[in-house]
Amino acid sequence: MADPLAIGVAASIVLVVVFFSSLKGTGWSPAEDISEEVLERRASTVPETDFPEPMNRSIGGGGGAVAVGGGGEGGEGGELEEGGAEESAGPGDIPDDEIEYYEVEFIKEGETVELANNEPILDQGEEQGWDMPYACRQGQCVSCSAHITDGPSEDYVVHDDQQMLGEAEIDDGYTLTCVAYPRDSFSIETGESP
Ligand code: FES
Repeated sequence: MADPLAIGVAASIVLVVVFFSSLKGTGWSPAEDISEEVLERRASTVPETDFPEPMNRSIGGGGGAVAVGGGGEGGEGGELEEGGAEESAGPGDIPDDEIEYYEVEFIKEGETVELANNEPILDQGEEQGWDMPYACRQGQCVSCSAHITDGPSEDYVVHDDQQMLGEAEIDDGYTLTCVAYPRDSFSIETGESP
């Protein structure tokens, strides 16, 4: 004979199990994705900087270097302009109202002409239509050399940075016509080398 008490207990357990199993589960739902929000919030806390981001730093750095270099160049340019003005104050830089003329006898050409003191002998000889010898036109060779027969060439001309003639050659009257500016009257033989 079944024990009524046991039957009651078993029925209670079954009811409890049925009750709980009939309850709706809460289920699982993924948490809201807040990663973007977190990132934005973090980004907003990073202070703005004046310098470029690391990736751009090399480029920006380069640009900076260029800017600095550019500034330097600008500065140098300014100095160069000033220095250039000083450097360009050569024997030919004579104001128009201060230009003087000297009578120069070109022995081989058989003519005496007036030469200005602000232009090289070579240029002024060419302006006469003479075929004057030359190569560099910068005082760096001796192609244009000529001989001033009156004495040391630098008593009669000023050389603008000639590099080729020695003191003895200048004393002998040799000159480089491409960089020689008249400072007195004289006679000259073109195409004469030391
Ligand atoms: S042409 Fe070269 S020194 Fe005059």
